[in-house]
Amino acid sequence: GDPRLQGISEAIRVVPHFPKKGIMFQDITTLLLNHKAFKDTVDIFVDRYRDMDISVVAGIEARGFMFGPSIALAIGAKFVPLRKPGKLPGERISESYVLEYGTDCLEMHVGAVQPGERAVVIDDLVATGGTLSAAIRLLERMDAKVVECGCVIGLPEVKGQNRLNGKPLYILVEPRELEDCC
Ligand code: PRP
Ligand code: MG
Repeated sequence: GDPRLQGISEAIRVVPHFPKKGIMFQDITTLLLNHKAFKDTVDIFVDRYRDMDISVVAGIEARGFMFGPSIALAIGAKFVPLRKPGKLPGERISESYVLEYGTDCLEMHVGAVQPGERAVVIDDLVATGGTLSAAIRLLERMDAKVVECGCVIGLPEVKGQNRLNGKPLYILVEPRELEDCC
């Protein structure tokens, strides 16, 4: 495999029982502090998407905003923020998704993408896939073509992939367990 992936994985801090008991939180802020690991992460996505005729990189608030814009600039695409509810001032569309307790929602500005544009969706992590599924629905409602979803971290057999409406999912590393760290 790609020799850069181990360094990326090791730069992600694992915080047990955050934000609640039983969760092994994958903290990408330590990846952002490590210039080589951060650059390698962006470069891998850029190398993958630069020749796929992508004109839209859609990033999911908040942690998708930490990777998406760098990728967009490098491949010559626009960046479209998919925001949590109530943040976008213009005409917008909304898609809700199911969480463990309750629902949340993502919004996108109408006019941010044109029919037929080819898009990738970028986020830090996929767990259930609910968040990515809402992002896909937003883009498809505007008749954009979602070429792929790209995440830094995801399980090898992501349950979420069943929720991605058949869209390809590209993942760099698996979540780390505490045993692997330190
Ligand atoms: C986290 C993560 C993904 C999403 C993955 O975001 O950054 O966006 O959950 O979960 P899923 O695959 O089960 O939908 P979160 O909403 O916690 O907030 P943040 O990115 O604003 O920190
Ligand atoms: Mg998120």
